[in-house]
Amino acid sequence: MPRGLFITIEGLDGSGKTTQIKRLAAWMQKRGLDPVITRQPGGTATGDRIRALLLDSGSTPLAPTTEMALMFADRAQAIAEVIEPALAAGRIALCDRFTDSTEAYQGGGRQLGSERVLDLHRLICGDLQPDLTLLLLPSLESSLARARNRNERTTAQTGQDENRFEQEQGEFFKRVWAKYREIARREPSRVVLIEGNLSIDEVYEQIVEAVSERLVANSPAR
Ligand code: TMP
Repeated sequence: MPRGLFITIEGLDGSGKTTQIKRLAAWMQKRGLDPVITRQPGGTATGDRIRALLLDSGSTPLAPTTEMALMFADRAQAIAEVIEPALAAGRIALCDRFTDSTEAYQGGGRQLGSERVLDLHRLICGDLQPDLTLLLLPSLESSLARARNRNERTTAQTGQDENRFEQEQGEFFKRVWAKYREIARREPSRVVLIEGNLSIDEVYEQIVEAVSERLVANSPAR
């Protein structure tokens, strides 16, 4: 059984990842592909508990290293329970955030540095690398405005509090943004950077193009 394809979607809060994942999953399903869709933090029963701890704005203070360790604890569980089994079964694993998020948010935003994050990735995740990463980077201002609106709506509708990261200041998100760009420059063959304030359809077109190319490159006929 050929191994499946591991695809991750990355970006700042409010970059439109959730909308694009839904559309991409529908596109795949139409073509008879049956992706396993998951997200980090979360996506497993244990991961959902870790997610609540990480995102609830009541979880303060949380030391940056604790935050980083919890992200990796969540990821280890997701790899064992969801991602590896999907890839071993030859399926596409489509993951909303992966270690690039830890490098951008904890390495960049919290200033822990890339090296520590990448060391932990090797140690805890066996250095598992996505085959393709779609990095959505609309402007910082529009991402943050969208993320705040969405979280206020969610809190008002469901009472669920996932606002801890949104309470960070602009400087934090500038560092996250810069680290994402650095990752894209460092790994151009893995990371497809989709930047600028594009429409949802324009972003979707670029995503479908990148995924189609990777599917062709990965097909057994070649
Ligand atoms: P989201 O999944 O709704 O985008 O929110 C998850 C939040 O967690 C988001 O603010 C980014 C943050 N995060 C990190 O700081 N480090 C990580 O490794 C991951 C996966 C997420």
